[in-house]
Amino acid sequence: MKISMQSAHNLALQSFTQQPSIDVSSSPMEPKASPEDNGSAPPPRLPLSKIIKSARKRILITGGAGFIGSHLVDRLMEDGLNEVIVADNFFTGSKDNIRRWIGHPNFELIRHDVTSPLLVEVDQIYHLACPASPIFYKYNPVKTTKTNVLGTLNMLGLAKRVRARFLLTSTSEVYGDPLEHPQTEEYWGNVNPIGVRSCYDEGKRVAETLAFDYHRQHGLEIRIARIFNTYGPRMNIDDGRVVSNFIAQALRGVEMTVQAPGTQTRSFCYVSDMVEGLIRLMEGNDTGPINLGNPGEFTMVELAESVKELVAPSATWKMVDNTPDDPRKRKPDITKAKSILGWEPKVTLRDGLPLMAADFRERLGVATKQQ
Ligand SMILES: NC(=O)c1ccc[n+]([C@@H]2O[C@H](COP(=O)([O-])OP(=O)(O)OC[C@H]3O[C@@H](n4cnc5c(N)ncnc54)[C@H](O)[C@@H]3O)[C@@H](O)[C@H]2O)c1
Repeated sequence: MKISMQSAHNLALQSFTQQPSIDVSSSPMEPKASPEDNGSAPPPRLPLSKIIKSARKRILITGGAGFIGSHLVDRLMEDGLNEVIVADNFFTGSKDNIRRWIGHPNFELIRHDVTSPLLVEVDQIYHLACPASPIFYKYNPVKTTKTNVLGTLNMLGLAKRVRARFLLTSTSEVYGDPLEHPQTEEYWGNVNPIGVRSCYDEGKRVAETLAFDYHRQHGLEIRIARIFNTYGPRMNIDDGRVVSNFIAQALRGVEMTVQAPGTQTRSFCYVSDMVEGLIRLMEGNDTGPINLGNPGEFTMVELAESVKELVAPSATWKMVDNTPDDPRKRKPDITKAKSILGWEPKVTLRDGLPLMAADFRERLGVATKQQ
């Protein structure tokens, strides 16, 4: 029997509205206890896209107006095979990042704070909502912990309710100031539980725990990416992360501020590589956690020198005090990502820095490359 697009949509709507309604006031965490919440594993459920053959995959991206989220939106929308819903409270994200999709029939934008429950019928959830830069996550640390704990609980509750596959963007910060180098996924980390960064580090660790408990307890399909430093166009110009800091300072003609001792290392992954890794993880069969990052390791002084060479040859840098609990080394072991996802970064720092600088020049109104 041939089924029209309209009646297929009606069928889907009908089956959705026939489900018990969600009482969001009953629990701050989960949308609502569904009939199958009696401890037994829920029955398998076909994704919407399998029921309605012509329907696109419906994908929720929390934090989709942010830096990585907006590039993920671009990729999934450009595929032409998806409907994308962004839920964002615009704390660090911006409508500008996703402006090109506003009004597109396959795109929806919801102003929503993930610390409150949300109900949308989707096949997949990419859960990115969380400020990622120290300046912003330390601004309101209690809110950061709430976002990581309550926000993740709410999105896991939603995934369970609508049987969506759930991907968490965790972080290399779960390794803290690592005593193993490079960091493999088996390393449990060295994290200060009461420091000024703990709202983020420990928040993400709890978020991972929650995801795995939903997986073990409720059979939820989860994917966990441990993201290492990522950079590229659309990063918040004044968010204090080292690459954006150096490029913005160099373009504004002020000294780059290298935090002492300058020998601490980071690995920098270009955002298009990161997005590719996240999509492969979501579409693959492994729960993770899987490290996603670029294993190329640079000291902060080397990074400042690269910005000087590639972005603004007249730039200078000075050493400043460091912030507490700043990790001395950070480098992903991506053996798992290579073997399981067939993924590794392609864009080198030398290629990526000028691309990011071009975007910063435009936003800062600095027209030409400074000499
Ligand atoms: N960029 C990196 O180097 C990096 C490294 C490790 C992990 N990550 C993780 O990747 C994800 C995206 O990071 P990013 O660099 O794009 O950061 P970002 O700050 O640009 O994006 C985060 C987005 O989440 C939104 N958000 C924050 N709190 C929210 C809330 N309570 N409810 C709804 N939306 C909220 C913000 O408005 C923003 O749009 C984060 O989960 C971050 O922890 C990023």
